[in-house]
Amino acid sequence: MSGPARPAVALVGVHGYGRRHVDRLLARREGGEIDLVAVADPVPPDGALEGVQRFSDLTDLLAAHEPDVVVVSTPLHTHADLAGTALRAGAHVLVEKPATADLPSFEALLALAGETGRWCQVGFQSLGSAAVQHVRDRVAGGRIGTVTGYAAAGCWVRTHSYYARAPWAGRRRLDGRVVADGALTNPLAHAVATVLAVAGSQRLEDVRAVETDLFHVNDIEADDTSTARIALADGLDVLVAVTLAAAEPGEPSVTVTGTGGSITLFYTLDTVVEEVPGRPPRVTRHERVDLLDDLLDAVRTDRRPRSPLQDAGGFARVQDAVVSGPEPRAVPGEFWVRHDLPGGDVHRQLPGVEEAVHEAVTRRRTFTELGLDWARAAHR
Ligand SMILES: NC(=O)c1ccc[n+]([C@@H]2O[C@H](COP(=O)([O-])OP(=O)(O)OC[C@H]3O[C@@H](n4cnc5c(N)ncnc54)[C@H](O)[C@@H]3O)[C@@H](O)[C@H]2O)c1
Repeated sequence: MSGPARPAVALVGVHGYGRRHVDRLLARREGGEIDLVAVADPVPPDGALEGVQRFSDLTDLLAAHEPDVVVVSTPLHTHADLAGTALRAGAHVLVEKPATADLPSFEALLALAGETGRWCQVGFQSLGSAAVQHVRDRVAGGRIGTVTGYAAAGCWVRTHSYYARAPWAGRRRLDGRVVADGALTNPLAHAVATVLAVAGSQRLEDVRAVETDLFHVNDIEADDTSTARIALADGLDVLVAVTLAAAEPGEPSVTVTGTGGSITLFYTLDTVVEEVPGRPPRVTRHERVDLLDDLLDAVRTDRRPRSPLQDAGGFARVQDAVVSGPEPRAVPGEFWVRHDLPGGDVHRQLPGVEEAVHEAVTRRRTFTELGLDWARAAHR
């Protein structure tokens, strides 16, 4: 045992997705597993946190408390500073995904985690699933022959209200800082992180090159309909195709293709489908560990957690390519359809984008390489 029996935990960012962390932390406090010592947010919390000391920023919180673990759930371009501050104060960190908004911040945070000897766990919750290791074991066991490539696909819907909720939403940069809130790097970031995990290519040095092909259907600066080809150091590549302008949300997936079949992980469901010609598909479901519980256990038992910062290096390379590569291109209005939703919200749908995503990952082509009408028009 190298950590306290009832660790002191603090939370930074209590609204938005932070609300989920509030619920999890209150449940663990109720169960006697942690002490929730304080929260930090410039916007006051609501009634659920009555009795928990509140600060408007993390520095003030750390002047008054010495938490064992700090959970950071704030806008993504604030993560590097806040996680760094918590590490320097001697805390282990669970930082929401993406860990940082740009590669220099990632490298600095990685160095700091090394210097302080503290864990910085990144909140890619799909990496808490035993399904990832299952896929790797099946592939290593030769179930689909020799691997020929990896793919990730995701078709989700994000409406106007999603982008209107915060000033950083849908931005590539804000006030001179990189934000990188596009489909590949934020809403569907798990697709990228999970396919790199399945490929065993999570570290900075595992990704050799990244080609991006970015579009937006919504009136945003960042991408919402994108493909990327990721060249791995082992010579294989990953094709990622995603959209936030689908007709309706579908289940995102990552696939390993081999000479003798394929294995697909539906990473929000922890479900794996193995397909080998001549045999019925083999479907398995797997346990998932919450990444805060995993971090607390890792600290207590002195082991490596499931999603440490070093394993977000491959993702950081993809993120860097997205922000430093060509700007996303606007898909002209004649190709998408506007749906007015109750309450004044608006959904922009790109008809046929689901088929385009499917084509991209099966033919291993970017949207531009597929010669799609809307992609060609966006290039004009
Ligand atoms: N793991 C997932 O599935 C998942 C899902 C959604 C969002 N997220 C991530 O959660 C994070 C937060 O997203 P969001 O949509 O809730 O953002 P948000 O803009 O709604 O902000 C969250 C909270 O952070 C607070 N905040 C802002 N700056 C702060 C600071 N310097 N110190 C303390 N508090 C501060 C805000 O007041 C707000 O309460 C992002 O990194 C996002 O990518 C993860």
